[in-house]
Amino acid sequence: MIKVAALVGSIRKDSYNMKLTQFMKDRYRDHFDIQVVTIRDLAHYDQDIEEEAPASVQRFKSEVAEADAFLIVTPEFNHSIPGVLKNALDWLSRGDREMANKATFIAGATMGALGTVRAQMQLRQILNSPGMGANVLPGNEILIGSVQNKIDENGKLTDPQTIDFIDNVVDQFIPFVEAQKEKVHS
Ligand SMILES: Cc1cc2nc3c(=O)[nH]c(=O)nc-3n(C[C@H](O)[C@H](O)[C@H](O)COP(=O)(O)O)c2cc1C
Repeated sequence: MIKVAALVGSIRKDSYNMKLTQFMKDRYRDHFDIQVVTIRDLAHYDQDIEEEAPASVQRFKSEVAEADAFLIVTPEFNHSIPGVLKNALDWLSRGDREMANKATFIAGATMGALGTVRAQMQLRQILNSPGMGANVLPGNEILIGSVQNKIDENGKLTDPQTIDFIDNVVDQFIPFVEAQKEKVHS
């Protein structure tokens, strides 16, 4: 079983991105053990406190440390990723650099038409920085626009084309993680 730490860029309670993450956790449970790691209570990144980081940061870093892989699911805020997600990533770029070389895939949902494309372009750039060093699945962009029409009142993704697309990305991601794990253990 592949252990996946999921970071969700929206912390509001009715977040579509959280619903999408829960959908993926359930649908792919035979392949992945997806654990959503909260980023809500993280202190602001501050170099002055990183040596003796606050409990919220220590908890967060230890929760993701054992993951084989990462999933980031995020909305777009003002053509970028939400600050709360950037803050979490900045913490992970320091100290043990928990995302370094870890297989990572990305999804995003928005009520607008473009499905987080601008945010995801920036997110890939961030994850590619020397501090982060994540191993991001190339291509395979899960961009979900008009998400309010694709998730039902129970929070379930219902749009068949979107589900097919995500299934296909997951099919690409499984061998990508396996190859990564072999590299780490060889
Ligand atoms: C501060 C703010 C900025 C936003 N900026 C964008 C944007 O640049 N592009 C976009 O497609 N949607 C934008 N939206 C709309 C969000 O995509 C929409 O609110 C989405 O449902 C948020 O994700 P969530 O449901 O997971 O919280 C913005 C929303 C907020 C609150």
